Order: sequence, then C-alpha cells, then structure tokens
Amino acid sequence: MSSSKAVVILCLLALPAWAAGPNLGVPVSPNDIKAWDIDIAPNGDGLPPGRGNAIQGADLYAQACRSCHGKTGQAGAADELVGGVGSLATPDAERTAGSFWPYAPKLFDYIRRAMPWDHPGSLSNDQVYAVTAWILAQNGIIAPDTVMDSDRLPKVRMPNRGGFFVEPRDRY
Ligand code: HEC
Repeated sequence: MSSSKAVVILCLLALPAWAAGPNLGVPVSPNDIKAWDIDIAPNGDGLPPGRGNAIQGADLYAQACRSCHGKTGQAGAADELVGGVGSLATPDAERTAGSFWPYAPKLFDYIRRAMPWDHPGSLSNDQVYAVTAWILAQNGIIAPDTVMDSDRLPKVRMPNRGGFFVEPRDRY
C-alpha cells in the first residue's frame, strides 16, 4: 500500500473519535453553576432572601471590617467607605461607597463576593444586608433602624445616582 493511501485510511479511522470532541472535562451541573451565579443587577434582580439593619451591622463591622476600613468607615488602611458626599465635582473629590456608588444593590453584591478581604464569601446574607445597611446609615443615606432586604435595598436612592451618563461616542 502506498503511504498516501495509509494516511487516508488512518484519518478515516480517527474520524468518529474526532467528531465526539476532545473528551476533556466533565459536564457542569446546574448546582455548580448556581454556586457561581450570584451577580446582582443594579435594580436589585438577584438579591437573596434575608434582612438586616445598621444597628445589627455595627457589631459585625467592628469585628470583620474595622481593622482595614477604620472605626467609622474612614481613615483606615483600605478604601474609605464613608464621607465625600457632594465632593465629586470639587477639586477634593472623595470617592467612597457613599459618595460615588450609584446603586445600593451593587454594594451588597460586592461585599458578598469580595469582603472581608481576608475571608471573602464567609458572611451570611443577613450579615451582608446588615453591614450594607451600616455603610448606608453611616453615610446618612438611611436611618440606623431601617431594615434592608431584597425589596427595600433597590429603593434606596444613592446620592450619586444621577452622576453617571453614557458618553456620546460620536463626539470623537
Ligand atoms: C483585610 C482587610 C479588609 C477587611 C477586613 C475588609 N476589607 Fe473591604 N476592602 C479592602 C481592600 C484592600 C479593598 C479594595 C479592594 C480593591 O480595590 O480591589 C476593599 C474594598 C471594599 C469596598 C469597596 C470600596 C470602593 O469604593 O470601591 C467595600 C464596600 C468594602 N471593602 C466593604 C467591606 C466590608 C463591609 C467589610 C467587612 C465585612 C470589609 N470590607 C472588610 C480590605 C478589607
């Protein structure tokens, strides 16, 4: 048999295995996907059940957040979470969770997935609602006893809600 014929036959033999794909990995189960599918939309879609207010959040903040973000959410080693409301259009703009973030549900989303920095994912949903409420109350955006949950958090009007706009690309 000529060598070119041998190559054609070999290729044909290999075809069914090829068509089935490289056969790597295992199918992802819906439960696996659910564990990663935790993003929350600015309008609050995806917020889980649970609730908490700033009074409940104060203790947790002191235990789990204060070491990096400071006693009052200011002047810690990590980002300031409090203050700067009304400063963005000034030369001393202070971008904090209170002054800069336009949607309160994203605060929940970020804290649940990323904080505390040294133990991300360790907080229960009630704890995340409570510490989110603490940050909002500390910024004067809600009262300390206002309970945050999936219904009320999206209704919080953040001070910088109107501060973002879609840049008109045809300007360039
Ligand atoms: C070990 C230090 C540490 C601890 C503890 C910690 N954080 Fe943070 N935090 C950081 C750092 C560092 C960043 C900035 C991360 C980045 O920019 O990627 C940050 C960022 C944030 C932000 C975003 C700030 C912004 O405007 O972008 C929020 C909100 C926040 N932390 C909340 C919390 C809360 C609530 C807790 C407690 C449950 C907590 N953090 C505990 C270190 C910490």
